[in-house]
Amino acid sequence: MTIASSSVAFEGAMPMAPTALERFGKVERPDLAYTREVAEATAPIFEKVKHIIPAIEWPALAPTIHAINILKRQRNAVILAHNYMTPDIFHGVADIVGDSLQLAIEATRTDAEVIVQCGVHFMAETSKILSPDKTVLIPDMKAGCSLAESITGADVRALRERNPGVPIITYVNTSADVKAECDICCTSSNALQVVESFGVNRVFLIPDKYLAANVGNKTDVEVLIWDGACEVHERFTAKELQDYRKIDPGIKIIAHPECPPEVVAEADFAGSTAHMIDWVKTKRPEKVMMITECSMADNVASETPGVDFIRPCNLCPHMKRITLGKILDSLVDMTDEVVVDPIIAEKAKVAVERMINLKS
Ligand code: 13P
Ligand code: SF4
Repeated sequence: MTIASSSVAFEGAMPMAPTALERFGKVERPDLAYTREVAEATAPIFEKVKHIIPAIEWPALAPTIHAINILKRQRNAVILAHNYMTPDIFHGVADIVGDSLQLAIEATRTDAEVIVQCGVHFMAETSKILSPDKTVLIPDMKAGCSLAESITGADVRALRERNPGVPIITYVNTSADVKAECDICCTSSNALQVVESFGVNRVFLIPDKYLAANVGNKTDVEVLIWDGACEVHERFTAKELQDYRKIDPGIKIIAHPECPPEVVAEADFAGSTAHMIDWVKTKRPEKVMMITECSMADNVASETPGVDFIRPCNLCPHMKRITLGKILDSLVDMTDEVVVDPIIAEKAKVAVERMINLKS
């Protein structure tokens, strides 16, 4: 038996690929003191988050926000952040914010060498699939998703074998392995359009059974399901929405289509996280309830003065793994790097690009 050491290459042993830190080089870990310079540089950010972050907490957050904003320029990095990120991330360090579709599109447009994906793993993987030459980092590799965990590529192959000829659409909340086996991807903002794009009367929309049912309720196409669900949205009930309406009949309720159909039926509007934000910004209701992850209302509140947000929300434990401290570590240490097998990535890219290229 031969034993390899880092300095000696043995015959037949594959050379180790350099890590992102080796490729990009070391930087000094920034000092995180709350100085006058930091206070001045972060004052405009504090203006946007003061409705949700108490002034007493700002000196603890501002140095990290400031350090990230300097470091991301040094690293030629762009920070893509999902709408569920906390306000310190969403307003403090993100370059681009949005729903899954917007973030996927932005990943194809950026000139930055490094993408720091502030969201969950399938989002970072989608960026890597679309931009294989870029370095994609996620601040916490364990940021998963109950939907992505509900199905594997092997499950999709079995589904296809049992249902020959039926198109299989995968929600973007899946692994690259699953996307590689599907005909096309969709997100919550274009699922209906993707379902109808095939011009057939039966399709699979996997793995979210609720999204599939909600889309099925809007079309004549029969939408076949997989038994997956979002652990955050499936906890909302129609009864709790009815109770809120009884207390406050004037309230507007908007829900994410990952909620069960009876919850969506109680809502005044249902749409992707970006569509929910647009709805509030355009309609400016006096009182609104966003039936989704908690950070959404916090993030949109500063941009919609005069709108009162009632907040019965559920936290996504996976999204909440991404913190300012971990984003800083990500940029200093160039971790955690997202790697996708190139053969799987190539196949998955076809499914994602078909979705992006669909005319709206
Ligand atoms: P959006 O595409 O609507 O942002 O949804 C992503 C997600 O994970 C919602 O739970
Ligand atoms: Fe997944 Fe639900 Fe969290 Fe979105 S909110 S990342 S669907 S577990």
